[in-house]
Formats: sequence, structure tokens, C-alpha cells
Amino acid sequence: MSKRIVIGQLGPTLDKGYKRNRWENWRPTISICQHEDHLIDQFELLFQKKFQDLADQVTEDIKSISPETKVNHHRIEYRDAWDFQDVFSGLYDFADNYNFDTDNNEYVVHITTGTHVSQICLFLLTESRHFPAKLLQTSPPRRKRSNEPGSFNIIDLDLSKYDHIAQRFLLEQTRDLDFLKSGIATRNTLFNRMMEQIEHITIHSNDPILLTGPTGAGKSQLAKRIYELKNQKRQIQGPLVEVNCATIRGDTAMSTLFGHTRGAFTGAATARKGLLVEANNGMLFLDEVGELGPDEQTMLLRAIEEKRFLAVGADKETQSEFSLICGTNRDLLNEVKEGRFREDLLARINLWTFKLPGLAERRDDIEPNIEYELSQLTRNTGRQVHFNNEARRHFLEFAMSEDAFWSANFRDVNACMRRMATMAPSGRITQSVVKDEIERLNQSWQTPITCNEKDNNILLKILGTQRIEEIDIFDIAQLRTVVNVCFESSSLSEAGRKLFAASRKQRKTINDADRLRKYLAKFDLDWQTIKKSS
Ligand SMILES: Nc1ncnc2c1ncn2[C@@H]1O[C@H](COP(=O)(O)OP(=O)(O)OP(=O)(O)O)[C@@H](O)[C@H]1O
Ligand SMILES: [Mg+2]
Repeated sequence: MSKRIVIGQLGPTLDKGYKRNRWENWRPTISICQHEDHLIDQFELLFQKKFQDLADQVTEDIKSISPETKVNHHRIEYRDAWDFQDVFSGLYDFADNYNFDTDNNEYVVHITTGTHVSQICLFLLTESRHFPAKLLQTSPPRRKRSNEPGSFNIIDLDLSKYDHIAQRFLLEQTRDLDFLKSGIATRNTLFNRMMEQIEHITIHSNDPILLTGPTGAGKSQLAKRIYELKNQKRQIQGPLVEVNCATIRGDTAMSTLFGHTRGAFTGAATARKGLLVEANNGMLFLDEVGELGPDEQTMLLRAIEEKRFLAVGADKETQSEFSLICGTNRDLLNEVKEGRFREDLLARINLWTFKLPGLAERRDDIEPNIEYELSQLTRNTGRQVHFNNEARRHFLEFAMSEDAFWSANFRDVNACMRRMATMAPSGRITQSVVKDEIERLNQSWQTPITCNEKDNNILLKILGTQRIEEIDIFDIAQLRTVVNVCFESSSLSEAGRKLFAASRKQRKTINDADRLRKYLAKFDLDWQTIKKSS
């Protein structure tokens, strides 16, 4: 049988009663030892030196009603019993020095006596398991001036023990998971397990998260959802600052990330804060982190480790506190091996790494994803789109078969559902729409590098075999067109004008050349290199 031990503070007012008729008053500390159905073996009585007489009186009274209860005195001094720091430290020290033996004893912490501040401190220290105990709350009897012991209530702070509360936590967790998965009822066990881990880490950790996986697997979207979930849970107040590292290579990269002072370099007419400062108290999302240049990697490491860094041209360091999430479709370990990525930086961001699988690795999720795309299309266009039964069967059979590569993953699903919805007569996707789409998909997946020898030779010449092998077919196809347009153009601006002919019309400022330069930089290419190869 384990011993029941109460830890409680003496209540200078309530435990006092009146000299002659103190037994007619309800005294919380005494009342604890008056319950025959809840015997107390030991009482650790905490009090300040100035209440020594009262402590002796209470101890004597406990002895008279419950001789089996051993009362130990503990003096605990506060300068001010209403000062949180003071009281917390006092109680913390007591807990730290006390020899808890949870194998043989059962502990309860009495929270009815003492100032409100000390009650809060006892609650916090019990919740944090510094007191490995349950809470004990006592209440006076209904009839005043009676010598009945009143009632008591034991509160176990281990919430998982309460069915109803546990149920609510489960519901909340399901809601959060649903949010991370964009409301898609995914079936793949491994994927669902990974999402559960991500949900847990999002809520319980502020350490960096690294999302890897093939293009279109949903890394960027998931990173945003992680931020939003953290924000909903009030774990993060600041903004989400997104940076695609592929777009910030070259001279301006350092100042874009870390800021610059006024006059730091020619053209720096005003100072700039930089994205790391913008992310202060929020989250920095470094997408395509593998594209960061060596100088930026070095400064970033310092910013992560020490939360401080030097802006360009500054002699005093800047501080910024941010959560970090990184995304990449590169194999960073390989990048380290090749000397393109700092090993120590990888070690810092590689704490919670999740590799999002491509769609071909989770074919059981294709159907729910198609349903999701249909519902999104209906929502965005206000037009109901459905499959005919036969057409649905036919399309799913293909989509889930080994013949479907889904090489750009969700981008492929998204594009193909859009096309079918557009082609669907009065919102019905028919057999013939499906047949045409399967043909289109097959064609798009069958244009791997070997398909167009002439163009591939050019890419091979510019990039080299090894680099080509590291680039997705999806990107190769796009790059091939871009390089061809560059060959046919006399300047970067002209090539940009042709390539962005449609989207440039919607832009306030025209920056075709800059857009093209950044795109090429993603593959370590520039205008001169391409023109030299033509
Ligand atoms: N779970 C999902 N279900 C459906 N669509 C998704 C899902 N995740 C992402 N998408 C959509 O797929 C497209 C690609 O997603 P995202 O940009 O997040 O991919 P990525 O892994 O970051 O790709 P990349 O490596 O090329 O940057 C986006 O249009 C996105 O809205
Ligand atoms: Mg991305």
C-alpha cells in the first residue's frame, strides 16, 4: 500500500480559526485530515517563520484528530507572498530539494490555502511535474459554524486520463491534420503517418523543418500550411516570409536576405532591412534552399545559430528571431559531398526532415486528390464538374496504373483536371474527354531527354551529363524551350519578351530580362553561356 502524502501551505487566515472556538470554524488544513475515507499518512506543512505558532497549533490539532498523520514542518521564506517570482522560486526550491519517491508514495498538493499567487505557482509546478502529484482542493461544509470537514476534490492534471477531454484533443488533432492535408482524405498509411509527425512537430517544436521531395510533391504548399497552423495555435505572431533562393543569386543576394546600410554599395541610396529582419518573430521559408550561394550559406548559419548577423556595409550586428522552414528537391547530402552546400548548415536545418513522396509512390491517394481537384474547380469556377461513371472508372484505372508517371506530381493532377473540366460538355467529363486527356498525359510524359536529339545535344553541351541527370524531366522540357528562344533572340530582353509574352501584360512593371536571368540562374546558367554555345 502506498503512503498518501499531502504537501500544503499553512493558511494564515483560514487555518487560524479563533482561539477558543477554533473547532467551530472550517480550517482547510485540518479538514484534510478529517476525512475517514481519505486517510493522510504524512503532511508536509509549508509556512513562513512568522507563522510558527500557528503551525504548532495546527500540528497539535491534526495529531488530536488523526494521530496516524505525521506532520513535517518546512520553513519557506518569501519577501512578498504576492510576488510571483519570489513565491515561484521558493516553491521551486522546495520541490527541487524534496526527495519524491513516487514508487512508494502518492502525493497531493493542496491549493486552497495561501495567496492566489502561491496557488498559481503550485499549479504550474505540479503541471510541469516538479511536484509529481495530483492537486487537492478543499471546500467548507454547507452549514456555517459546523465542525464537519466539508468536501474535497482531487484533480489529476494528466488530461489524457479524462475520456471526454481526451476525445476533444483527438478531435482537435484530427482538425489540425485535416488542415495540413488541405482537407484531402488521404489513404496512404505512410503518408498519413508522416503528416501526423509533422502535425506534432508543428505544435510542439520550434526547431527548423526541412521538406524534401520531387517537384510538385507539395513542399511549398505544406510549408505555408505549417506556418498557418503555428499561427492559429498562437505559437508564432510574426509574418511568414517566403524566399525562393533560386531567385536571389548573385550580387544582391546578401542584401536581399540580410539587408544593407545606406551607401553600402553604389546604388544603395537607402538602407534596406532584409528578409531575415522582416521575419522577426515569424517564420522564414527558404524554398529551394539548395540554391543558396556560399556567402549566404555562411551568414545564414550564423543567423540560425546566434540569431544575429551582419547587414551588408554594417559594422554592428542585427538581431532577428525566427522559425525556419526549408524546402528543396535537391539531394542536400550529395550537394555537401560535391562541395556546393555547407555541411554544418545542413546539420542545423536537417533536424526534422520529411521527404514528401511523389504521387506515383502513393497511388492510393490519387482518387481523393482527384475528388479534391474537382471540388476546387467547382468552388473556383462556380461550375459543377462531374465524371460520367464509365469515364471515372476509365480515368482512375489509368491514373492508378504503372503507366501513369505523374512526373510533376500534383502539378500534373492539377493541370489534367483543369483541362478535362474545360473540355467537359456541360460540366460532364465523358469517356471521350478522358481518352483525349490520357493521350495528352502520355505525350507529356514521353518527352524525356532522349526524344529530341538535337535539342538535347545542346542542353548536354551547355550543362554537361552529370548536371542534366540531376534535373527533372519536367524542368528539362521547359529549359529546352527557353534555350531555343534565347538562340533565336539578339538580347536577353528580347528573349524575355517572347517567353513571357502573356504574363507580362498583367504586370505593373515589365522585367522580362530580370525574370529570365533569375530563371537561368536556377540552373547556374546565364545569357553569355547560352549564346556562346549557339
Ligand atoms: N496535397 C496536395 N493536394 C493537391 N494539390 C496540392 C497538394 N500539395 C500541393 N498541391 C498543389 O500542387 C502544386 C505544386 O505544389 P508545390 O508548389 O507545393 O510543390 P513543390 O513540392 O514545392 O514543388 P517544387 O519542388 O517544384 O517547388 C501547387 O499548385 C499546389 O497547390
Ligand atoms: Mg516549391
